[in-house]
Amino acid sequence: MSDSINKKVEKLIAGMSLREKIGQLNQPETPTADNLEEFKAAVAKGEIGSILMSVGATAGNDAQGEISVDFYNEIQRLAVEKSPSGIPILFGRDVIHGHRTVFPIPLAMAASFDPELVSQSYRDTAVEAANDGIHWTFTPMLDLCHDPRWGRIIEGPGEDPYVGVCMAKAIVKGLQNADLSDEETLLACAKHYIGYGASEGGRDYHRAEISDYTLYNYYLPAFKAAVDAGALTVMSSFNDISGQPITSSKKYLTDILRDKLGFKGFVVSDYDAVCQLIKQGVAENNEQCAAAAVNAGLDMDMHDKCYIDNLEKAVKSGAVSEDVIDEAVRRILTVKFAAGLFDHPYAEKKNIDRGEHLVHARQMAAESMVLLKNNGVLPLDKAQKIALIGPFVHERRSLLGSWTIDGKAEETPNLAERMKEASGNVYVINTNPLAWDSTNKNIAAADVVVLALGESWTATGESRAVSDITISADQKALIRKAKTYGKKTVGVIFCGRPIAMEDIAEDLDAVLYAWHSGSEAAGAVTDILFGAVAPSGRLPVTLPRKATHIPLYYNVTPSGRPVDCYYGENPGNCYVDSMPTPYYPFGYGITYTEFEYSAPVSDKSRISLSDLKGGDTVQVGVTVKNTGDVDAKETVQLYIRDEVASMMRPIRELKGFKKVLIPKGKSAKVTFDLTYADLGFYDAGGDYRVEKGKIGVFIGKNCLTQNRTEIEII
Ligand code: NOJ
Repeated sequence: MSDSINKKVEKLIAGMSLREKIGQLNQPETPTADNLEEFKAAVAKGEIGSILMSVGATAGNDAQGEISVDFYNEIQRLAVEKSPSGIPILFGRDVIHGHRTVFPIPLAMAASFDPELVSQSYRDTAVEAANDGIHWTFTPMLDLCHDPRWGRIIEGPGEDPYVGVCMAKAIVKGLQNADLSDEETLLACAKHYIGYGASEGGRDYHRAEISDYTLYNYYLPAFKAAVDAGALTVMSSFNDISGQPITSSKKYLTDILRDKLGFKGFVVSDYDAVCQLIKQGVAENNEQCAAAAVNAGLDMDMHDKCYIDNLEKAVKSGAVSEDVIDEAVRRILTVKFAAGLFDHPYAEKKNIDRGEHLVHARQMAAESMVLLKNNGVLPLDKAQKIALIGPFVHERRSLLGSWTIDGKAEETPNLAERMKEASGNVYVINTNPLAWDSTNKNIAAADVVVLALGESWTATGESRAVSDITISADQKALIRKAKTYGKKTVGVIFCGRPIAMEDIAEDLDAVLYAWHSGSEAAGAVTDILFGAVAPSGRLPVTLPRKATHIPLYYNVTPSGRPVDCYYGENPGNCYVDSMPTPYYPFGYGITYTEFEYSAPVSDKSRISLSDLKGGDTVQVGVTVKNTGDVDAKETVQLYIRDEVASMMRPIRELKGFKKVLIPKGKSAKVTFDLTYADLGFYDAGGDYRVEKGKIGVFIGKNCLTQNRTEIEII
């Protein structure tokens, strides 16, 4: 940070009492009528550094009231004008994938493989949220996850570290823009640090077992990218790793986060996580909890008041040194200055025209949706008669997805509305679909049946893990029933997580994976079904056949016997009763044309390690031809395989992708520059290394591509 900020921070700290300092570390939630007066008194005494602008332990699952800018301005005035040091309060809210305009769930945005569009979505989001007086949002959520039973998989980038890196950079850039002190920005918070997505069995808040080697190579890269992109806050996670709660772990919060990743901002706990150390069995009382957390490097305490109620005592008893408190305050004040909070503590609500944001939301949603199957039925012709059936035809709230606390279901067009707007030949069948037969006149007259299927938003999000990842039995019955009509049938699946595709895709002629895609989800589906947009999303997670095949992710290390067992096309005898090949692999997605790839060509077949380290690169490229008669986007994906290394390396690792629009009949040359940063890995001590030897380079449509060349590092 600049010298002038440092000076201002030191001056403030020098004049603060211990109580006031601890106040800066205290983040209660928005007061209710019951505790309002007490709350205001605490603000006036300088005992509140930040406010979590919501109520309840699982904010994303509960309706949160609309923000009253006047109310927060009044609270802020108390802090600025009445508290001893006049330090403004930092207002934080979970603005996870949009504000009033809702964008697709982050997992869906990852499927767009379009970081620029992701940045744009978060730019629009920041503009809307900042206008409501929000300074800080608890996003990006960067938890790599291999278990789709976990309800929170919807909030993150999926199963791949590289996609995580790209999402981290894109989201931080969109939120913070070029100048964080600008009023139309939000401070980003990289969460949940670390390993929360690895909770055993996908059970929320559960323990995780992660070796340091795995941590550095799978879980940390996205956090490092967020830090490098300028994220100044990090939220620690609820879970423990191998018996160490993150909340009180110096190893994770200081040695790795600060010393290895170079993080300079402040760490906030998750909700009530400090006091939770008692339940986790590493502290006997709240004073011990507070001391353990702050000594480990956790700066701000969310909601449980454990710091404000206990740290004075802990300093007096010597359990915590005042220097530790000063350091935490220093970090928090530095971020407040960087965010421009001292220059513009109050919000001035303007009328925002959200028209353009809604256009962006529709575009983002369309780019996120993944066409999985198409027997030539799509795109639909507007002259065709379409019977629209199923539980998601009129659904609004689930289209928005979990962690939507400012979007409004009643403002969200449903599929029936958007489809009818596009064509006068759409007939919604309203009666119990399982009770019809093909003599139903609308079905009999229809050329195509479109089934709107999916999972409810209430099956996703925090504290909402499921034991089976599928759509309901009724919906499967509906698919089978629709088949008996003898019509071409399209399934549109609105869901948050990867679901097991067996018994769903087989009986459908086309499948569009539409996610929970926000305010304009229905519009985007309509655009794709009628061919106004050629689908271009790709899977950032594997879709397994069965839930019992979990965990199933592409970037596994190879097994010794049988070779390629587990993910590839030759799964050998993993299970005697079923084949655990992916139903649809990572990176998969089709569109309304075909793309033909040339063999990859590299500009050099060998490169010396020292040249690579010095900044030299290897360029590898392909020519991709659109052989169909529709202009469409292809996501060209580059994977590597480090053939022989001192540690086992994954059978494939995504190292680059480019989404390119290729007009019909045309070709595009797509190249990637492989750098030192792409070709190595971390050892268990967190040190990055590139080793000599052969690297297989694959460029193709998804992770199973065999389109390979080879380079050698000498
Ligand atoms: C708990 C969640 O784990 C976290 O993601 C969220 O930001 C906080 N609550 C605040 O709502």
